[in-house]
Amino acid sequence: MTEPPAHGSVILREFTEADVGLALEFGEDPYIPLIGSLPAHPSRQEAEAWVRRQQGGRAEGRGLPFVIVAGGTAVGTIALWLRKLSEGVGIVGYSISPEHRRRGFATDALVAITGFARTVPGVERVELYIEPWNRGSLRAAEKAGYRCEGLLPDHHEIGGVPKDMLVYASP
Ligand SMILES: CC(C)(COP(=O)(O)OP(=O)(O)OC[C@H]1O[C@@H](n2cnc3c(N)ncnc32)[C@H](O)[C@@H]1OP(=O)(O)O)[C@@H](O)C(=O)NCCC(=O)NCCS
Repeated sequence: MTEPPAHGSVILREFTEADVGLALEFGEDPYIPLIGSLPAHPSRQEAEAWVRRQQGGRAEGRGLPFVIVAGGTAVGTIALWLRKLSEGVGIVGYSISPEHRRRGFATDALVAITGFARTVPGVERVELYIEPWNRGSLRAAEKAGYRCEGLLPDHHEIGGVPKDMLVYASP
């Protein structure tokens, strides 16, 4: 059996049904529901459906989503999405639950998944897309060794609105 991706204080593991609690925490954050398919203030059923979509993404080969675990607690999620695999590119997205922020978990998880991405057949480069105001995410990217390649105007729809995104590439 291969070792799970890990770095510093975090280990990455696959989603289980028990991660509905993390989804409920995510749903109370003002930004996380805008950047994925989790509804804001989700019901338990909506949170369970989101967990199943993460698991389905892996089963269908759309990507490799992980739960970030620190000290035995699920503190966030990080995924290597494969929609640009034909170009040799994996796209990483991540979120940390509000009560677990600013302890280095996003940075450690990003280092872990970047190393893991090198073992995924066809992935030659990893990209991150970050809104310019998102200081915590920009800083985590830089601390994990990513470099900024520029600003892409109106590149992503976030909350239904086109937003400029900085693109970062893996070390
Ligand atoms: C962005 C996010 C993932 C950062 O997670 P985190 O675990 O708190 O990040 P880290 O603890 O690894 O912090 C990395 C660096 O950013 C800094 N940082 C974190 N949050 C910050 C904030 N809100 N403002 C300024 N700096 C911040 C940390 O101090 C650290 O820098 P330092 O070591 O120089 O002090 C988290 O705030 C989050 O989930 N936000 C909502 C979802 C989101 O934005 N996801 C990313 C989309 S691109």
